Amino acid sequence: MKHTIKTITCIGAGYVGGPTMAVIAQKCPEIKVNVVDINPQRIAEWNDTDLDKLPIYEPGLKEVVKEARGRNLFFSTEVEAGIREAEMIFISVNTPTKTYGVGKGMAADLKYVELSARQIARIAPEGKIVVEKSTLPVRTAQSIKTILEAEGNGNKFQVLSNPEFLAEGTAITDLHNPDRILIGGDQDEDGLAAIQALVDIYAHWVPREQIITTRLWSSELSKLTANAFLAQRISSINAISALCERTGADVDEIAHAIGADTRIGSKFLRSSVGFGGSCFQKDILNLVYLCRHFNLPEVADYWEGVVKMNDYQKHRFAKQIIDSLFNTVSGKKIAFLGWAFKKDTNDTRESAAIYVAKELLDDLAEIHIYDPKVKKEQIFKDLEYVYSQDPTQSFDLSVLQSLITIHEEPYLALENAHAIAILTEWDEFKTYDWEKIYTHMLKPAFVFDGRNLLEASEMKKTGFEYKGIGKG
Ligand code: UDX
Ligand code: UDX
Repeated sequence: MKHTIKTITCIGAGYVGGPTMAVIAQKCPEIKVNVVDINPQRIAEWNDTDLDKLPIYEPGLKEVVKEARGRNLFFSTEVEAGIREAEMIFISVNTPTKTYGVGKGMAADLKYVELSARQIARIAPEGKIVVEKSTLPVRTAQSIKTILEAEGNGNKFQVLSNPEFLAEGTAITDLHNPDRILIGGDQDEDGLAAIQALVDIYAHWVPREQIITTRLWSSELSKLTANAFLAQRISSINAISALCERTGADVDEIAHAIGADTRIGSKFLRSSVGFGGSCFQKDILNLVYLCRHFNLPEVADYWEGVVKMNDYQKHRFAKQIIDSLFNTVSGKKIAFLGWAFKKDTNDTRESAAIYVAKELLDDLAEIHIYDPKVKKEQIFKDLEYVYSQDPTQSFDLSVLQSLITIHEEPYLALENAHAIAILTEWDEFKTYDWEKIYTHMLKPAFVFDGRNLLEASEMKKTGFEYKGIGKG
């Protein structure tokens, strides 16, 4: 049976749902696209007439929203109406690591996905195509199908897996020019027809040969595998960075030398203070949990090493700061340049900055933070979260407020600092007047460059005690 899709609804207006649907609406003007979310504030921000107030910052996003919003792109809290109206429903709600019960700290929490599936089953007046956009453990589509069939009033549903590979900070260019689109579905007649309906949507702007169609489980597992491989490259180069620091080699030279081998390739070999973001750690832990569940402990341990190496890298960076500052940072001003988990985004989830800050705060450092896009409230929320993860400590907001200062202007954050730590690779940090900064710092003037962003020889010439990652 051929489907004609006139309306799409996406549940979840987050970092994935929002930009993805905005681009689908932009490229398919004849399809109505509803983005619904239970969070009224988020929806109000998506509807703000001032496009600088959209809830997420992505280069190019506001232009896309400007073009499509009100034409065929609508943001609303009317989840039920959105479900009724659409022939195709994307689920793009968050799937954080479970913080309770079975699989705590490892498994993905599917409660929002399950709630969405139940809601669709309950109120959909007829069968629909349900598309998993959220990253999910392999075989989740089976659970969704079971719910839809059990509660779906006899309606027939198709479940597709269509993982999203966009990276934050480049979401719009990634969506406009994806390396590939992946769609998994059942291989029977109804499943293939549903796959075709989604292929037809992407074919508005993606060449057909870049749209890969697979069985359901392959698509679900491909997404976890892609993130695990990407994160593994970073942990591998970071492992080598530690060896470089002991031996006098330079990790950037090594990355360049090995990346020239076309079999290895040059991308994703930037050594850093550690990867962050909402996906890598969560998805690997999820993969590890699945492997343990299926009684594959060796496979589980192999992938868990990627996360352990990342934790080690963050810890190593914090420890280097404390060691270099004569074994204590108590009462010392440490300036943080950057808080986001990478440049060009205001997202801070799992940012290395949070963990480095926590270790320095444990040693009673006074941390002054400047990030061009992250809001003050978010930084305090992140710290509150990281304290809640530490059973040995209770969170005291007033103590934290006395140790943390957040700046709207970089030079004040840096003035009279004992040390500067670069946590995010924002381009603007390279344009600062580093000679002026040097004259206004305490000496020795330490700079710990967690992104190898600045020119080491220039910094040393200026007088800084400059330490990059993996620079022997
Ligand atoms: C996405 C994916 O869905 C996740 O699986 C992937 O691994 C990372 O990216 P993301 O868009 O980054 O998540 O999450 P978030 O920005 O938290 O957005 C999710 C939205 O869903 C939130 O706005 C939340 O309010 C909404 N939501 C959540 C609902 O509308 N209904 C719910 O029941 C739960
Ligand atoms: C990632 C995947 O790239 C994307 O395909 C998937 O859909 C979601 O997860 P994202 O987390 O948004 O995207 O950003 P990414 O550019 O992959 O960076 C993740 C983290 O790795 C960042 O903290 C980044 O700074 C770090 N990183 C990346 C490095 O430390 N070195 C590198 O060479 C590349």
